[in-house]
Amino acid sequence: MKRRRPIVAIDGPVGAGKSTVARELARELGFTYVNTGAMYRAVALAARSQGIDPAAASATERLEQMLATLRLEVDGPRLMLDGRDVTGELGEPALGDLASRLSTLGVVRARMRELQRAAGANGGVVMEGRDIGTAIFSDAEFKFYLDADPRERAARRARELAANGVKCTVEEALEALLERDRRDRERALAPLRQAADAQAIDSTGLTIEQVVARLSAVVKGR
Ligand code: DC
Repeated sequence: MKRRRPIVAIDGPVGAGKSTVARELARELGFTYVNTGAMYRAVALAARSQGIDPAAASATERLEQMLATLRLEVDGPRLMLDGRDVTGELGEPALGDLASRLSTLGVVRARMRELQRAAGANGGVVMEGRDIGTAIFSDAEFKFYLDADPRERAARRARELAANGVKCTVEEALEALLERDRRDRERALAPLRQAADAQAIDSTGLTIEQVVARLSAVVKGR
């Protein structure tokens, strides 16, 4: 069935600027912004509070039980976990790593796919993540793959963390992001990659406004 309004899929590695760009683009288009990384982070928060180790033999079974009852609601840019707004708790670097490790597991991806497809079913969304254009909405009307030079991504990441009161050098940020990108690219299920029909945008040296302007021109057909 044809959607009334399009889906804009934005994928790419850590620190490429996806979240800010997707949020701004959604605002400009009057679309809903969906941050799927935050959904994986919310699952990581819940798993951590239950002491679930993704490397343990019991992980899949315990996650299956947890996900069967966990209420994860996407309310625009806000994420509710069992009725509690956890949006402000998701920026912690350790949660990004745990989310990346949990995202290799089929049981987690299957639940996320269900929620993400429901969130975009009516179109009119800008959804960002790692597998939106390749797996979640492989029929999205617009697909972008946002990347940037690793050192610039690390510098942005370090600045972002500093703004949240977390001390981290560019070197440390670089090491952490390369490790997370490697895991996200090498996993067997829906790995991070550019969809064949996605438009690649290198945001190195570009401002957020410049990137948003490019994407928005494509979506508006200009
Ligand atoms: O976008 P982010 O850095 O907040 O995402 C955290 C992790 O979640 C990321 O390292 C891998 C996983 N993820 C995923 O596997 N698929 C997505 N669509 C989004 C995130």
